[in-house]
Amino acid sequence: MIDIHSHILFGVDDGAKDYEESVKMLKEARKAGFDTIIATPHVKRAHFDKSAVKESMGRLRPVAESIGINLIQGYEYNISALADDSIEGAMEYCTEGTKTILLEMNGTQIVSNWERIVIHFQREGADIIIAHPERYPILYSNHDIVSRMLEVGCKLQVDLAVMLQRGLFNKEKTFVKSLLRNNCVRWAASDAHNAEDYKYFAEAFRKYADQSMCTASRNSYSELIK
Ligand SMILES: [Fe+2]
Repeated sequence: MIDIHSHILFGVDDGAKDYEESVKMLKEARKAGFDTIIATPHVKRAHFDKSAVKESMGRLRPVAESIGINLIQGYEYNISALADDSIEGAMEYCTEGTKTILLEMNGTQIVSNWERIVIHFQREGADIIIAHPERYPILYSNHDIVSRMLEVGCKLQVDLAVMLQRGLFNKEKTFVKSLLRNNCVRWAASDAHNAEDYKYFAEAFRKYADQSMCTASRNSYSELIK
């Protein structure tokens, strides 16, 4: 199983704050059934400094291996970084060894030219995964945008732990439920920022997902299958 969205690298964003926390996350992720994690620190602006990411990855990789986890470098690329970056520049943030981009929208908004941006990425050969569509409330009442995303070949990644939230009128959960019911979810991921998040993921996975939502597909991440 691959976790395609995780803030497991320490000291690079709002995820793990130190080495110890990253190691705890690795152990919980292993218990949750993952053997591969794509580390996806936030990239919110152009000219992102990758040195801290490289250092964190360098320290974590050996311990990950000893726990039975293959750590792969990726990023969570925020579409707002394109204000100051080109599509070619943004391709620097594909997951290591692939042409897959985990694309986050800007805050709770979907930019009106999202489709043009996706098409430009695809011209560069990119495979686009949309990070947590449940965070963009405009989609709750605009299912045509979701349909369009799927039609143009985007894959949707949900933060599965949302399904554990309480409240009958919880909109994020209702939306994820409908995506699951309509077979729109390609990837279930943790978006873990700490070890607890992996415990929530494990519980949600048992109740609401199946293995296929965490395994490599033909277009995204098939390159990672050894
Ligand atoms: Fe994230």
